[in-house]
Amino acid sequence: MAPTTSSAITLKINGQNYPLTVDHRTTLLDALRERLDLTGSKKGCDHGQCGACTVLIDGRREVSCLNLAVAAEGREITTVEGLARGDELHPVQQAFLDLDGYQCGYCTPGQICSAVAVIEEHTAGWPSAVTGDVRPEAGPPPLSAEEIRERMSGNLCRCSAYVSIVQAVSRAADTTAGQRRTEPAGTEPLGSGDTGRTADAEAAA
Ligand code: FES
Ligand code: FES
Repeated sequence: MAPTTSSAITLKINGQNYPLTVDHRTTLLDALRERLDLTGSKKGCDHGQCGACTVLIDGRREVSCLNLAVAAEGREITTVEGLARGDELHPVQQAFLDLDGYQCGYCTPGQICSAVAVIEEHTAGWPSAVTGDVRPEAGPPPLSAEEIRERMSGNLCRCSAYVSIVQAVSRAADTTAGQRRTEPAGTEPLGSGDTGRTADAEAAA
């Protein structure tokens, strides 16, 4: 009997269920772009090196070109198409728009998804490779330009819009921190959080 090489799965993307049958070798990126017409996630290298295909899986950023679609069943997938609330852009999207955090825009969806997770990770107190004091009691380090550059280093921009990207991530972190302080308890929008000091990021960028 020939081995089974495809499966019927249901992917939950941006809160919506998408049933589809996929070859087991189909990457999540190809399923999104080629099968489901969710073309926001971009294919840059297809080898996990550029970050253009970054999506959120169960709230964590992952490169969709290195995830198999069949392995993503049962998980909460968020793509750049799922970040806005109706006509209201996510703070990260708005900051990229306001501060010109892009040139050609090809890397931008991945940059934005990654930045959303960076803000969450920083809020949760995760250190980075450039964090000086990693003791838990030290709390989140200031989200400086250096911290942002390190935490966003998996996302390459061939246009080299890095200065504006750093400014946009810093602005978005400030915005989401402000939203967190004013929203009712229990409201946890994707990317929200008390992010610590970030003002120096813009100054240093
Ligand atoms: S396309 Fe996935 S990391 Fe480059
Ligand atoms: S804006 Fe062109 S690759 Fe980043």
